[in-house]
This record gives sequence, structure tokens and C-alpha cells, in this order.
Amino acid sequence: MPESFDVIVIGAGPGGYVCAIRAAQLGMKVACVEKRATLGGTCLNVGCIPSKALLQSSENFEEAKHKFAEHGVLLEGVKLDLARMQARKGEVVSANVKGVEFLFRKNKVTWLKGAGRIVSPGKVEVAGETYEAKHIVIATGSESTPLRGVEVDETQIVTSTGALELEKVPGHLVVIGGGVIGLELGSVWRRLGAEVTVIEFLDRLVPGMDNEVAKQLERTLAKQGLKFRLKSKVTGATKGADGVTLTVEPAAGGAAEQIKADVVLLAIGRRPHTEGLGLAEVGVELDERGRVRTDAHFATNVPGIYAIGDVIAGAMLAHKAEDEGVALAEILAGQAGHVNYAAIPGVIYTWPEVASVGATEEELKAAGIAYKAGKFPFTANGRARAMGDVEGFVKILADAKTDRVLGAHMLGPDVGTLIAEISLAIEFGASAEDVARTCHAHPTLNEVVKEAALAVEGRALHI
Ligand code: FAD
Ligand code: NAI
Repeated sequence: MPESFDVIVIGAGPGGYVCAIRAAQLGMKVACVEKRATLGGTCLNVGCIPSKALLQSSENFEEAKHKFAEHGVLLEGVKLDLARMQARKGEVVSANVKGVEFLFRKNKVTWLKGAGRIVSPGKVEVAGETYEAKHIVIATGSESTPLRGVEVDETQIVTSTGALELEKVPGHLVVIGGGVIGLELGSVWRRLGAEVTVIEFLDRLVPGMDNEVAKQLERTLAKQGLKFRLKSKVTGATKGADGVTLTVEPAAGGAAEQIKADVVLLAIGRRPHTEGLGLAEVGVELDERGRVRTDAHFATNVPGIYAIGDVIAGAMLAHKAEDEGVALAEILAGQAGHVNYAAIPGVIYTWPEVASVGATEEELKAAGIAYKAGKFPFTANGRARAMGDVEGFVKILADAKTDRVLGAHMLGPDVGTLIAEISLAIEFGASAEDVARTCHAHPTLNEVVKEAALAVEGRALHI
């Protein structure tokens, strides 16, 4: 008799492992299949966590070299020990992935090691064994999107995975794609001494983010030394002993030119990972972009098979995957699991950071929704001045009639943390006035959020 579970989750990324833990908390017998040697998926192994470790370390290096003197802290002979920096990143990853193993043991989630394949509804095969489950959850995540003519080898031409592992600072790093990965990892290697050129197909960076924030981000990163080639496309890459030669053309067509790089980072997006799962055989439908098609309750067209996270539609973000994992586990337990997609924040961990939640001005205009915008700069905030981090602003968008908060877009110090306040406001259906009337500790960066909320009615106090 095959071993039987209430739920088998395939994939132990933030979507899958959180779904497994929540289902176990709710009293179900749960297994989670993972083919990687460690748990935690893209996020913990080769995504969020290692990139944030390197962003933190490289920012420390940059501050020690260029910012401490302003505070009267004089250091001489600041040097980079890249091997130690990379080793530390490894330690951070290792502690996190072991943490998930501990959580599985604590919650009695069985880790089925190997690649999972759905044999039929209710049956999953892992490493030659078949297991039964009332519910199967596909949480197999995503992988880097390839580009024709640019062959990844993870040493000279790398995806984010290779860019996190470089053993030497490249002389010239060329990034294809001015999205989140390109700007975060471009920042890391620029701070560590590389010349960085970002080639972006569109006429702007980070598509989907608020226009004003994106423009400010471009100016800020350009001041830091990143070079941008917008409206450009890479049509080929030739590897040689002395680096890679890229052929670059205007996006609209025109004369090609060649750019030399020591390392090329390909970061033009990620695509759903469904290979080898047996989906076609079982009849699970995919959408036009290869994502598993689900309904509002994460159910696929095949009864008993569900999907969450990067492998389905929506933002490819760890916390979106986690929230879907929790909601699905609750639905499977007969509860009313739900994700509010209007309140999912997005953060870019450059410095200054970028953070966004809810609708952008462009989206509100397109939808014909009348709104008011309140904006406040970090230059007028005491704490930001004390820190010496005054670049950027907070912008809050509220419904013109009801004052309900519809969105917020920020660039500045630690705005990745500040954005949580507006996610909460949106979740609670708060008005800008509710945010403005809430007491904010002084002196904190959060006061910029309060002042932006006051500015919605034109009554900011400190400007
Ligand atoms: P994944 O994390 O991709 O996990 C899927 C797992 O399924 C993998 O471990 C895979 O090995 C396993 N798997 C696949 N097929 C099978 C199979 N057949 N059998 C068994 N196992 C299988 N998001 C943020 O919110 N914040 C960030 O700061 C951030 N930084 C990022 C930085 C980088 C460099 C990258 C690449 C991504 C980053 N992301 C970030 C995105 C985030 O990593 C993803 O949104 C998130 O990991 C998606 O979670 P998931 O559970 O859907 O899938
Ligand atoms: P992305 O979708 O953020 O950006 C890709 C960029 O490449 C876009 O600006 C796009 O216009 C451009 N592009 C596409 N094709 C191109 C071409 N042929 N030539 C030049 N430019 C081209 O994708 P990215 O940066 O690869 O990240 C993948 C996913 O990982 C994102 O969806 C993001 O959500 C997630 N992620 C999240 C992070 C965070 O939350 N801080 C950090 C890193 C990744």
C-alpha cells in the first residue's frame, strides 16, 4: 500500500513550504516534495536571501569607503575580502534553509526528497515510489527566462544564480534587463568596483512600477555610477578568452554596435517551472504564458490539483507565494482562505530602496478613477537628515471622493520597511486621514509617511 497523505505539496519554496506548514498546523497529514538538496526554494537558496546578504555587505563596503567620513569616522585602507563576503552569504543561506528543515520537523511535515511527478489525480511519484494524496499542490516556482543568441554558462554569461557566486569583481558587467534583478545585482557589483552597464529594451526601468519613482530611481542609480542604455536590445553574444562581445541594436531596429563585457548578467524576467511534472499527461491546463491556470481558489481544471506561487499568474514575489500557500491550506481545511492582491507590496532593495503597494497613478488614470496625491520628501525629515540619507520621497494616492488609500510609491531609506504601514492601511480600508491622524514616533523615517498622508489634503506640517 502506498503511503497516503492529506496534502502533498510539490516544491519547497516560500509558497510550498509555507503551505505545508499551515496545512500541518490545521491538522492535516502533509508531505512536501523537493528535488533541491536543501529546502527554501529559489528564495532562500539563490534568490531573496543570498541577494540581500550581498546587498547588505556591499552597502557596508560602500559606506565604509565613501560615507563614514561625513560622520567623522575616518577609516584608512578599506579593502574588499570578496571570499569572506561570499562565505558569509553562504552562512546566511545555510542558517535559513536549515531553519525550514527544523520547521518541517516541528510541524511533522514529511520531506520527500527528489523530483515529484503527478502520475494521476491523487498520486505523486518521487524517486521511484508512489504516494497518495487527497490534495496535490503544485508549487514548483520559476526559472530565469532564456534569450536567443545569449547562451548562459553561469561563469561568463550568468543568470542571477551565477551573479551571486562570482569569485572576482568583473571589470565590466553588462546586465541585460533593467528590472529588479538587474538593478539589485548591478548595484552589488558596482559597489564592489565593477563598471556596470544595464541594457533595457523599454524606454524606462522597472516596468509596472510608478513612473515618477522609476525616473527618480534611474537618476539616483546613474549618479551612483550605473550606466543605462534604454530602448536597446541584445541580439547576440560571442564568448572569447578576453570576455564576451555583445551585439546591441536600438529596440526599434537600426545600426548594431558591439559592447565588450567581462561578465554578462541575463535578467529579462522569469518563467514558470513546470517541466517533468506530468501536467500534460494528467490534463492540467496552462495559460498562454505557460503558467498553471487556476481559479480564485487556486484550483486547476483537474479536481484535487491546486497551484500557488511563481508557477501561477501574478507577481513573482516570495510573500505573494507565501500568502497563497496559507490561503490554500485554509481553503483545503474548509476555512475561507483569501489573498488581497491590492495590498501586496513590492520592494527593490537598492539603496535608496524603492517600495510600492496598490495602484500606480498610471493605473488609476487608465481606470478613470479620480484620486489625490500627497507627496513628502525625505529632505524634510529630521531622522533622514541625522542618518545622512535624504534622497527620495513618499507618495500616497487616495480616492478623491472617499479619501480611501489606493496606493503608495516610495523611494528612500528603508522604504521597504515603511511600506508595511500602507499595506495595512489598504487591508483595513483606511483613509489617508486615518494614516495622518495616527501618532508616529519622532524622530523616525515613518513620519514621512504621515506627512505624505497629510499632504493628500494639502496640510503637511514640515514643508
Ligand atoms: P520557488 O521558490 O521557485 O520554489 C520552487 C521549488 O520547487 C524549488 O526549490 C524547486 O527546486 C522545486 N521544484 C520544482 N519542480 C519540482 C519537482 N518536480 N519536484 C520537486 N521539487 C521541484 N522575491 C521577493 O519577494 N523578495 C525578494 O527580495 C526577492 N529577491 C529575489 C532575488 C532573486 C535573485 C531571484 C531569482 C528571485 C527573487 N525573488 C524575490 C522572487 C522569489 O524568489 C520568488 O517569487 C519565490 O521564490 C517564489 O516562490 P515559489 O515557492 O513559488 O517558488
Ligand atoms: P523583471 O521582469 O523585473 O525585469 C526584466 C526587465 O528586462 C524588464 O525591464 C524588461 O523590459 C526587460 N527586458 C525583457 N526582455 C529584454 C530584452 N530582450 N532585452 C533587454 N531588456 C529586456 O525581471 P527580473 O529582473 O529578471 O526578475 C524576475 C522576477 O524576480 C521579477 O518578477 C521579480 O518580481 C522577482 N524578483 C524580485 C525581487 C524583489 O522583490 N526585490 C528581487 C529580484 C527578483
